[in-house]
Amino acid sequence: MQEQEKNAQARGRLIVFEGIDGAGKTTQIELLTRRLQAEGRRVYRTAEPTESVTGGLLRDALGGITKRTPGEMAALFVLDRIFHNTNPVNGFETILAQGVDIICDRYYYSSLAYQGCETDEAWVRDMNLNCPDIRRPDICIFLDLTPQESMERIGRGRVTVEIYENEERLTRVRNRFMSVIEDLKDTERICVVNAARSVEEIHEEIAALVAEIL
Ligand code: TYD
Repeated sequence: MQEQEKNAQARGRLIVFEGIDGAGKTTQIELLTRRLQAEGRRVYRTAEPTESVTGGLLRDALGGITKRTPGEMAALFVLDRIFHNTNPVNGFETILAQGVDIICDRYYYSSLAYQGCETDEAWVRDMNLNCPDIRRPDICIFLDLTPQESMERIGRGRVTVEIYENEERLTRVRNRFMSVIEDLKDTERICVVNAARSVEEIHEEIAALVAEIL
């Protein structure tokens, strides 16, 4: 009971999932959420881009409805991320202070990987990592899949040209993610998880990694 009271007062943990398309983030986030809840923890699931006005601007641009420069995209992601951290209703600071864990689908690692390819990498890095309003997560789980494996999962039914184009892009993004992880691994807890296994095996490894930071 005393232990439970202590837990109820403790700050929540910020858990981030990253990975290229098709790596299985959604499935694993769902499984981890249920597992933590079954252990009696309260969990808040969220994602970037967020549901904010800025998140809407980002989705419009990602979907091709509006056209934005790479610099605009990088800045909008930072603005959306600051809002995600600080807004008083459901920002990270508010949620964590209530003792609730946060599981976030994508975070600044995506900006470093995607926007880092398209505009000045050092500027993107600086905006994200040296921003006082963007907190470092307690753990980042990177679900790793080769672009070939990823294409096998998501590429069915598409024409060959599209598949090749996508595979090339996935390769670039994955390489970029790997160098971002290499760069940050001494200052942050980032775990690369082999996502080319069964859903259950992957889940068990993630659960064990997350247990270390609870
Ligand atoms: P998401 O909704 O996670 O799409 P998916 O289901 O394809 O993973 O992310 C939308 C897109 O936004 C995705 O292609 C990656 C991109 N993105 C960035 O380019 N930079 C960022 O900082 C974030 C958070 C996402």
